[in-house]
Amino acid sequence: MAGISPDIFSAAEFLTKGDLVGIPTETVYGLAGNALDGSAVAKIFEVKNRPSFDPLIMHISGIDQVGKYASDFPEKLEKLAQEFWPGPLTVLLPKKDIVPDIVTSGLSRVALRVPAHPLTRSLLGLLDFPLAAPSANPFGYISPTQASHVSEQLGDKIPLILDGGSCSVGLESTIVGMEDGEVVIYRMGGLSIDAIQEVVGKVTVRTQSSSRPDAPGLLISHYAPRVPFLVGNLDELIAEASKAKKDFAVLSLSRQFEEIEASRQYSLSNDENLNEAAQNLFAAMRQLDSSGAEVILAEYMPEVGLGRAMNDRLRRAAAKG
Ligand code: TXA
Ligand code: MG
Repeated sequence: MAGISPDIFSAAEFLTKGDLVGIPTETVYGLAGNALDGSAVAKIFEVKNRPSFDPLIMHISGIDQVGKYASDFPEKLEKLAQEFWPGPLTVLLPKKDIVPDIVTSGLSRVALRVPAHPLTRSLLGLLDFPLAAPSANPFGYISPTQASHVSEQLGDKIPLILDGGSCSVGLESTIVGMEDGEVVIYRMGGLSIDAIQEVVGKVTVRTQSSSRPDAPGLLISHYAPRVPFLVGNLDELIAEASKAKKDFAVLSLSRQFEEIEASRQYSLSNDENLNEAAQNLFAAMRQLDSSGAEVILAEYMPEVGLGRAMNDRLRRAAAKG
């Protein structure tokens, strides 16, 4: 069983040997391995049960490392990185040969990110290689935002989870790249589109799904709990579930339901703060998923700030595989 500790020196030792370690980031926990070691990266795919066509994000210690792994850094993306790194932003850049093909699933671009969590920043400072790290959950399931989430699902497969507490953002990074001189958003995430547009002007959002997308975080069904998950008007969903005598659980932004048992409801933020709601979203989905309910009923968030990325995750959680 994985040890759970904040010991970055022990984490560095495992990683240097080619072992995998669960690492905290400000977005979600990652399942990290040496990105330049093909067999460590292969272990990541195996442990996560992840299809090999789904590329990994490479975590680097600072913007000064970009030139080692990417052959070009378009001005607009560099501006974004300067503004938001360390932070919940991932940029797609043309890769150099030093990046193993297994990291990018053979694609010509590599995804780079400088994470903001202090423990992982210190860890990266100890290492002389970058860390490939997908979210530390089995493929298709909800991303982990606490060390215990990682331990519950992958604890028997890795030696150590670096414990950095609860993730402060709670949604995966926003992924951006360039097409024809324009900034394109491929995955909405912990950095809002408004924040990006304030720096580089209007961007294109291309997060629609297909059966074999460039970024499988865009698969129609992803980030999904095990029990059926419905999103819509809560009063209507509750009425239908009650009528069908279903044992249901409710996920809402701020409502409390007197007639529903406390263990069968989760309110994300009493004062409707969307940053707080995002922080709590995945933990709430996990909790309700294991509450014993037969179905989870949820409502959409306001389409502003992080609400847009939260709605993206709610939609994918609700989609049938
Ligand atoms: O916040 C995050 O991004 C977290 C933390 C651990 O950094 N990581 C994360 O990784 O969410 P993952 O693997 O669960 O999601 C990464 C997404 C996937 O949908 C993948 O397809 C896409 O990024 N991606 C990675 N490299 C890519 C590339 N070269 N081209 C296109 N998409 C890429
Ligand atoms: Mg993931």
